[in-house]
Amino acid sequence: MNGPHDTFVLRNGYEIPCLGFGTWKMPEGQEAIDAINVALDAGYRHFDTAAAYGNEESVGKALKQSGIDRRELFVTSKLWASDRGYESALAAFDASLKKLGLEYLDLYLIHWPAAKGPDEEWQKENADTWRALEKLYSEGYVRAIGVSNFKAHHLEPLMKASEIDPMVNQIEMHPGFPQQETRKFCDLSGILVEAWSPLGQGRVLDDDRLVQIAVSYDCTVAQLCIRWCLQNGAVPLPKSITPERIRENADVFRFDISADDMRKISELEQFGMSGLDPDEVDF
Ligand SMILES: NC(=O)c1ccc[n+]([C@@H]2O[C@H](COP(=O)([O-])OP(=O)(O)OC[C@H]3O[C@@H](n4cnc5c(N)ncnc54)[C@H](OP(=O)(O)O)[C@@H]3O)[C@@H](O)[C@H]2O)c1
Repeated sequence: MNGPHDTFVLRNGYEIPCLGFGTWKMPEGQEAIDAINVALDAGYRHFDTAAAYGNEESVGKALKQSGIDRRELFVTSKLWASDRGYESALAAFDASLKKLGLEYLDLYLIHWPAAKGPDEEWQKENADTWRALEKLYSEGYVRAIGVSNFKAHHLEPLMKASEIDPMVNQIEMHPGFPQQETRKFCDLSGILVEAWSPLGQGRVLDDDRLVQIAVSYDCTVAQLCIRWCLQNGAVPLPKSITPERIRENADVFRFDISADDMRKISELEQFGMSGLDPDEVDF
């Protein structure tokens, strides 16, 4: 991999730029537009938003104003929990597409699985929602479809009930929370993993062990975390509104973490995670 524009290939052959730009907690408005402009300038072509982030209009506006060919951009949005279900998922997708001002999305994800209550109920809710995504994909409104925050026991029944398997699973992943089990299931099922909060929302950046390793590669801990995701075959989605950090986070293609250091990082005990468990959250 030579830069953020380099791609992983999804199961359906569609290419996804290996580094994405996270936009959670960037409210609608000039701050988001400015951050996206800096990101485009730094080489990012992949942008991760969601209906729940409330910034789809600004993301769409910044991308349109850039004048960059739509085919060079990769735009993801996500369906919020209150829009689960077949008809409401179709309506939610339309609303996102309209806000973004786009004719198609590159990737559309179910943001969180339904997971509460009797198994048949939440499994049916996920399957109904997924049928809507399958329809949108089959009709060409979205180039790839997937899920987010699904563990193996959420994915298995969904895949049994569906015609098209998810192509992506976006999960929390960073040093201190490697999600080996879910990643292994995804690898075996041909599902590409995207890493949300690759910096643990900043919580892992002061860890002495990571600082020591980062020094040996002449990189920052943020760059080490992002590189660790990439070398694990996952797409990191770092977020920043700070121009120097946006550029720093894209400058991760000039060093390789050794197999020994990859193992050391992966074996760190759990720390820095958000605490959001898909089986426990109340949405
Ligand atoms: N699917 C999901 O459920 C889900 C959940 C959470 C996140 N996500 C996605 O994943 C993206 C990333 O996750 P995240 O935003 O939670 O966290 P993150 O990218 O791990 O961390 C972002 C935080 O780290 C700071 N930061 C960024 N680069 C830095 C650097 N080089 N040095 C020091 N600090 C740095 C940012 O500050 P400044 O902005 O102030 O620079 C911000 O406070 C989100 O934006 C969103 O697109 C998805």
